[in-house]
Amino acid sequence: MAIATLILFTAILIGFLYLLQHYLSKLHLYNTIKDLPGPKALPLVGNALMFTGEVAEICSKIITMADVYPSLSRLWLGSRLLIFIYDPENMKAVLNSPSGIYKSEDYNYMKPFIGEGVFSCAGSKWRAQRKTLSPAFNLNSMKSFMDSFVRHTNIFIQRLETTNGKEIEISKYIGPCALDIIYDTTLETELNAQAEQECKICDSMKNMLESFTRRIFKVWLHPNIIYYNTTAGKKEQKCLDYINILTNKIIKKKKMEMEANPVQESVQENEGEKKSPKTYLDLAMELAKSGGKVSETVLRDEINTMTIAGSDTTAGTVSFLLLMLANHPEIQNKAYQELHEIYGTSDPEDVHMQYDDLQRMEYLDRVIKETMRLFPVAPMIIRKVIEDIKGMKYAIAEMKAIAATVIRKFIIMVDKPLPVEEIDLKIYVALKPVKPIMLRFKKRH
Ligand code: HEM
Repeated sequence: MAIATLILFTAILIGFLYLLQHYLSKLHLYNTIKDLPGPKALPLVGNALMFTGEVAEICSKIITMADVYPSLSRLWLGSRLLIFIYDPENMKAVLNSPSGIYKSEDYNYMKPFIGEGVFSCAGSKWRAQRKTLSPAFNLNSMKSFMDSFVRHTNIFIQRLETTNGKEIEISKYIGPCALDIIYDTTLETELNAQAEQECKICDSMKNMLESFTRRIFKVWLHPNIIYYNTTAGKKEQKCLDYINILTNKIIKKKKMEMEANPVQESVQENEGEKKSPKTYLDLAMELAKSGGKVSETVLRDEINTMTIAGSDTTAGTVSFLLLMLANHPEIQNKAYQELHEIYGTSDPEDVHMQYDDLQRMEYLDRVIKETMRLFPVAPMIIRKVIEDIKGMKYAIAEMKAIAATVIRKFIIMVDKPLPVEEIDLKIYVALKPVKPIMLRFKKRH
């Protein structure tokens, strides 16, 4: 009995000392943020109880935080402090500071999929990777992407044409189109997702994005040993395995090409031929090569990063964009008039869009940017306090090419237009509508 009492006493003492040490280590932090507004925090758990519901519910609580509390407000997830910043001045200060390149631990939950790729890595490693990969989106590359934008967008409008004005869930059409474009332009791969009835990659990515978000807020799902034994964890693993089958095929093909033709680049230079710009996959291969060996892990991380960063974002924005055009026929009409001045009534499948045409679509550019302001598909980025991207030019060009082609061919309609503030949103890493966006496409001519 005496021994049991002693053990209990010792355990309580250790617990008390741990809490005291933890509290003292955070004393400076408590003093610094004590005047920041935020919901009332309970001892030990902080505000974690706000995050016990389903992910959609959690996201709507976070979105509401921005209505209730000013920029620079605080939230405690257990002993973890989150500072919310919504205003451009403070955002600029953080992103320009050394902390701007240190991503928070939350990105770790995406690492089984994107590992140490350019999205999730930090510090000097991120700087070096970013420098190597950026040329994949220079002007020459952008011009070379145009054929691909046009080709896959034409398949997209052919698919829309088969719907004969029936109401459709737009994400099911635009998701595969955006994937076909990103695989073609950056990963040298014809995915042909638009040729399939079901898009298994789209579903797998959707599932993974939901899982990553759920894990960030459910602290009990943080340990791998627990998470990968839950149904959600097992499903995430299956989705990851599915996408990696394709990623591995891309790696195998690229490695074989490299082995078969290791001096291709210099031969072209010697013969004075015009070189085609290096693709993202070429540059990822440069990152992966070291001492004559190719790291498949490095390649896999960069390929999966591109799959997820480059498709869901544009697909989501185009969905919101088409909804806005359907909601505001007068704006759709103005966008059409601008395109009419460039192409007349020609069919987009007969008269293809050229890269220089994009610069003439000023009104459409403004509509896209306003849609991105209203519906920022990447609504949150998280940085770790310790002491964006050329992809955006690609995204605008791709979205303009898709939207302009659709507007030239169809009148976009929605049965029940909703004011922007009544469109319910959720965040699964990317911003999504709670209810699917349903649209109708009626041929113009
Ligand atoms: C509407 C479209 C898009 C939006 C709103 C968007 C937004 C963002 C944001 C906010 C980040 C920073 C994320 C963070 O630090 O946590 C990011 C990173 C990134 N995006 Fe995009 N993006 C879009 C389209 C694209 C496209 C089309 C590509 C590829 C072609 C792309 C490739 C990337 C990559 C590789 C990163 C990681 C780069 C880095 O951290 O240096 N994005 N994007």
